[in-house]
Amino acid sequence: MKVGIDKLHFASSHLYVDMADLALARNEAPDKYLIGIGQSKMAVIPPSQDAVTLAANAAAPMLTAADIEAIDLLIVATESGVDNSKAAAIYVAKLLGLQRRVRTIEMKEACYAATAGVKLAQDHVSGHPDKKALVIGTDIARYGLHTPGEPTQGGGAVAMLISAAPQVLALADDSVLLSQDVMDFWRPLYHTTALVDGKYSSNIYIDYFQDVFKTYLAEQQKTLADFKALTFHLPYTKMGLKALRSVLPLATEAQQRALLAHFEAARHLNREVGNLYTGSLYLSLLSLLLTDPTLAADDLIGLFSYGSGAEGEFYTGRLQENYQRGLDSALPQRLARRRRVSVSEYEALFNAQLALTASDQTIALGDDPHRFVLTGQQQEQRQYLDRQH
Ligand code: CAA
Repeated sequence: MKVGIDKLHFASSHLYVDMADLALARNEAPDKYLIGIGQSKMAVIPPSQDAVTLAANAAAPMLTAADIEAIDLLIVATESGVDNSKAAAIYVAKLLGLQRRVRTIEMKEACYAATAGVKLAQDHVSGHPDKKALVIGTDIARYGLHTPGEPTQGGGAVAMLISAAPQVLALADDSVLLSQDVMDFWRPLYHTTALVDGKYSSNIYIDYFQDVFKTYLAEQQKTLADFKALTFHLPYTKMGLKALRSVLPLATEAQQRALLAHFEAARHLNREVGNLYTGSLYLSLLSLLLTDPTLAADDLIGLFSYGSGAEGEFYTGRLQENYQRGLDSALPQRLARRRRVSVSEYEALFNAQLALTASDQTIALGDDPHRFVLTGQQQEQRQYLDRQH
């Protein structure tokens, strides 16, 4: 029985800052951000969006009434949680109108947690093929203004419906994992922005990829040539390129050129929004599937998931015949319609997030066009609005 990703959708902001504008404002050469970091635009998340609304906005458009009836597991993976106790998944389940007999949990391990969610969902559906699981990676990447990490911010959510007989990608049971205590990136409870040792984190990422990928090849008796494409967690798209380059010597020159071409498709949409933390790998998968015209049924796709702290996993899936039917096909047009904000507007929005105090607050919705929005806080409870009800 095949189990895997049946549908794959994305939501982010209607606003972005151009990376050349940001570079000039920070006295950097634009090519440092455009080429050295590998980012063209960065999603600017307004105060009316948080991890909950991004998750609901990602999932709602792809779910049919039959899907909602069949979903009995909702996993929301995030490191941008809105409550220390209550799972973001409970809010998301309500906004999506899921049935009451659903297991709703929030998972955390930095940028890795959505992969843990996919793997748990795969096991769950394998045991209950008549059921479906919804896994959403949702985050807002925040390092702070004027920090080295600033050009690697961004935000958004990727929603994945996991089912038997999946339309998009049938997942294998071949994961190789690595989990060790590493202080490369973390966010203490009293911080709203991440602490990071940037160069160290980039080195650990490569070490983890080398470890799990080479172990995978040995265990599965495969070579790099068996893969149509490799996809990566993309905190910034140059990071994935560095990881790919680190294993290219294992391939012939023709295979190297092909893998690099597929990687360009796989980073195309990530270049447009920046880091998504948990959703980043899965936006890259979506980018590959939407923008690479050379893919075919049964192609083997590799996925490298990395979460600081640190945990890594390499696993694979086989592309299905009608994979395009399960994708968020309007995404490139939606991204093209976004509004470009100035660096000063981006800075103002960065500083206008819901304050972490007990007081009642109202959030101005501005030109936020999304169905689900955060309108403020009343009596220490976040207020969410579904504009279609
Ligand atoms: N033209 C072209 N390239 C240029 C350039 C120019 N004018 N000027 C500089 N560059 C290149 C540099 O050579 C460098 O390339 P290489 O990495 O290939 O050597 C690149 O631009 C970046 O330059 P710096 O190394 O000087 O950049 P920096 O010190 O300002 O910071 C960073 C870069 C460390 C990635 C920083 O943005 C950061 O800390 N980001 C957050 C941490 C992060 O994303 N880590 C990734 C692994 S951890 C993870 O994956 C989990 C997660 O999501 C956070």
